[in-house]
Amino acid sequence: MLLPDTFVKAVEAYAKPIDDEVSQKRILETHLDTTRFFPYADAIEQYHTLKDQRVLSSGCSSAGCVSVFLERGASRVHGVEVDPTLTNLAQLRFSGTEWEPKVEIEQYSGHGLPYENDTFDIISSLHVLEHTYDNNLYLSESFRVLKPGGVLFLEIPNRYFRLEQHTLIPYVHFLPLALRNLLTGCITKTFLAQKVTPGFLHCMNLLTNFHFPSPAQLMSMIQNLKSRFDLKVEDAFYHLPGHAKFRKEFMPYLMGPQKKLHCFRVVVKKIGNASA
Ligand SMILES: C[S@@+](CC[C@H](N)C(=O)[O-])C[C@H]1O[C@@H](n2cnc3c(N)ncnc32)[C@H](O)[C@@H]1O
Repeated sequence: MLLPDTFVKAVEAYAKPIDDEVSQKRILETHLDTTRFFPYADAIEQYHTLKDQRVLSSGCSSAGCVSVFLERGASRVHGVEVDPTLTNLAQLRFSGTEWEPKVEIEQYSGHGLPYENDTFDIISSLHVLEHTYDNNLYLSESFRVLKPGGVLFLEIPNRYFRLEQHTLIPYVHFLPLALRNLLTGCITKTFLAQKVTPGFLHCMNLLTNFHFPSPAQLMSMIQNLKSRFDLKVEDAFYHLPGHAKFRKEFMPYLMGPQKKLHCFRVVVKKIGNASA
């Protein structure tokens, strides 16, 4: 898809304050290059066709994946975000393009999704759940707006992987939340904030109040939601992008192969609403 000039300029302006060149290049690539979403679209299509479907990209950032879903034939794609700047970028991506009539980008508070029950055929949630302040609410809202027969495709970083994947600091995500917040506070709220790069400071801010479930906790949250929704877990596995699935148990074995696989993916089909 041809990117509007206004969008490219807005992305450049967004990346400009980041003073280290590597982070700046990474930000530009993240928002301007949509090819990294191709494998996700391929993977989703193993469970549900995208063609002629109504799709939600939850935590869509600047909506790179929204454009890929449209290219795969989705009839209508919604993107939802909590960050106003990213919401604005996402809207600019489609403004004045041929895709605009099929796209709807909305900002919300992160509490209740601004959609009716049973709205979407597919919800894609890529590395978002760990950023939400209430993992359970985020999941239950996703299942509420998913149609019966629809699929939630969700991926998070693997909490058992030794590096925290935003900061690349080993094992920092293993700390209990209160201790982690104390550590990040020592950096973000003291003179040290002036000593680190803006990129690192951004990552440290992300780690504050980061509710990062382990695969076992995620599976248990989904299990608990079965009292409200009739759900079927189609697949759940650890993986590296492009590598084989590693199913097995979702236990915190720090010595197991899952320690080396940095993502965890789960695909859940909503059969219906359990209370209906
Ligand atoms: C790591 S980024 C991933 C963005 C995108 N899914 C991707 O794969 O490029 C996480 C995104 O989730 C958004 N986010 C955080 N909490 C959210 C919530 N409760 N609902 C929707 N999006 C949320 C953040 O603003 C951020 O853009």
